[in-house]
Amino acid sequence: MNSPEIAPNFTHPDRNLAMELVRATEAAAIRAVPFIGRGDKNAADKAAVDAMRVFLGTVNFDGLIVIGEGEKDEAPMLFNGERVGNGTGPACDIAVDPIDGTSLTAAGRQNALSVIAVSSRGTMLDASSVFYMDKIVTGGAGRGVVSLDAPIGDNIRELSRATGKPVGEMIIAVLDRPRHAELIDQIRSAGAGTRLMSDGDVAGGINAARWETRIDMCVGTGGSPEGITTACALKAIGGYMQGRLAPKDAAERAGAVAAGLDVDKLLELDDMVSGDNTFFVATGVTDGGLVDGVRRQGPIIRTESIVLRAKSGTTRRVIAEHLASKWL
Ligand code: FBP
Repeated sequence: MNSPEIAPNFTHPDRNLAMELVRATEAAAIRAVPFIGRGDKNAADKAAVDAMRVFLGTVNFDGLIVIGEGEKDEAPMLFNGERVGNGTGPACDIAVDPIDGTSLTAAGRQNALSVIAVSSRGTMLDASSVFYMDKIVTGGAGRGVVSLDAPIGDNIRELSRATGKPVGEMIIAVLDRPRHAELIDQIRSAGAGTRLMSDGDVAGGINAARWETRIDMCVGTGGSPEGITTACALKAIGGYMQGRLAPKDAAERAGAVAAGLDVDKLLELDDMVSGDNTFFVATGVTDGGLVDGVRRQGPIIRTESIVLRAKSGTTRRVIAEHLASKWL
């Protein structure tokens, strides 16, 4: 129900599920800390998965994991199709990424996040049968301006025209991968700079859409689960994104088609997650441009999270101080 007494576009405040889910990403991030810089990404991921699962079970919702840690046999917990939450309350789709940036965590590098995204039941695209997705992410100014089908140089010039920011000042985030060598050359030839990310294109995408960062666009091929998760966040911050599934080979393409996916379709935000009832929470595992990582300060463990909600268009930063003795 709208509340014109507050503002014409304001939806009447109701429960913000993400304010409860943030406890699960905080717990996952805290439990991953002993594994930062220790070279074992699976151990870091397992610690985060275990903690996230326990906290998810305390939240009043009926969550269906659409994007999880993989299939049931390979991922004993938080697998695709698993039900989470205590079963009461709203029926939701949920994407979990207990650590986006397991390699970053294992190496002790920046930008690892613990992430959960939620939308109403039946609204989140199950892209789990295709590992990779081609993506382009910008702020809201990119809507109707950039396209995955256009050459990157054109996209940069068009976005520059739309935002008024000179091409020479633009920074384009790209995962630092051999597959992106040509893309990186083309970005630089167009006159823009690159921000090469060793991992973590959820943070890269969100930073491209936020007005206060230096990143103007995030492009390239990354995980399709991360693409859907990013789409949930963009709905809350007014960002823009297009995606297209990028099957690795004929077998993956056939599996996707069998799962009912249109692998050639240019996916708009609403194709990745429909409606505006999306929530997104992320807690920093290691320090990054989006949020600080977990810090130990004397008797306190400090976490920083962002809590996003599309219906109300709110971004909250939640700094929590956890008494370390409770986490021993
Ligand atoms: P993990 O945490 O699962 O390792 O994912 C990190 C990540 O960098 C994602 O952010 C990104 O979408 C994907 O991996 C890219 O995949 P690849 O490393 O195969 O290029």
